[in-house]
Amino acid sequence: MIDADTAREQQRQEWALSAPGWSQFRDNLSAASGTMTGRLLDAVAPRPGDRALDLACGIGNPTDALAAAVGAGGSVLGLDISPEMIEGARSWARAHGVTNAEFRVVPDEGHLGLAPEEFDVAVCRVGLQYMPDPGAALRAVREALVPGGRMAATTLGDPGRCMAFRISSQVIARHVPTPDAPPSGPGPVSLSDADRLRELFAAGGFTDVAVESFETALIEVGDAESCWLMFEHTMGPLIAMLGSMSAERARALREDGVAALRAEFGDGPVVLTGEALLASGTRPES
Ligand SMILES: C[S@@+](CC[C@H](N)C(=O)[O-])C[C@H]1O[C@@H](n2cnc3c(N)ncnc32)[C@H](O)[C@@H]1O
Repeated sequence: MIDADTAREQQRQEWALSAPGWSQFRDNLSAASGTMTGRLLDAVAPRPGDRALDLACGIGNPTDALAAAVGAGGSVLGLDISPEMIEGARSWARAHGVTNAEFRVVPDEGHLGLAPEEFDVAVCRVGLQYMPDPGAALRAVREALVPGGRMAATTLGDPGRCMAFRISSQVIARHVPTPDAPPSGPGPVSLSDADRLRELFAAGGFTDVAVESFETALIEVGDAESCWLMFEHTMGPLIAMLGSMSAERARALREDGVAALRAEFGDGPVVLTGEALLASGTRPES
């Protein structure tokens, strides 16, 4: 098991590599997963005028939806460990004239720099699983919520049902020697167990804890070729791998990836679905 600081540094490096791709393919990643965002917002029910927190906001998702929900009289703070992702979020906000959202880089998930009872609602969309200590993040969020404030988070469920993860891992394994033991640190599917998520919320001091699972679209792209291109620009570990490969091996990997996607979707649009877990809880009144 790698130590927490090393895991965080690895995350920073991977998200630095993929941040430009996340902005480039924002619609393919965020519009497609609108159901997940809708479920998250339903779980915390932000009202106009609320102060909302978006932990691991990436390039501002679902900060965008929260900013619309709380309106001009409310505010949203997006936090992320990656300066490059935060820069993407700030650019998006500037470009769209969003004035009620602010973004900050945090050093780690346990030190969010927040005042007690600063927020009415909080969310974390597919972020907890990348944190070495998600329990510390949940405790920090709970303290920053008003009594009665709601928190909800989504993670990816069963890795075998997450098509993007399954297809990309199978293709990559055919081209790059895989380690004997699976990676033990945080990653896209490292918090895919509903019971563990429930325990984390309860240990974080939340009550009314509920965890649900649902199948949803996560990524939509016009065709197999554009989809693999998107993988090559948004998956940090794949970007790093391609950077250390010869042009010939990188081309072989791409051809195989496109063929694997075509085998499932033909020449038509690619809609990658997966199981999502939605956990929610309330900061107790006392
Ligand atoms: C899959 S992205 C999700 C981004 C956004 N919430 C979305 O749904 O599009 C995961 C995000 O978690 C952030 N992250 C990883 N480790 C973190 C940590 N320890 N603390 C805060 N954010 C972290 C990454 O920088 C990245 O922006």
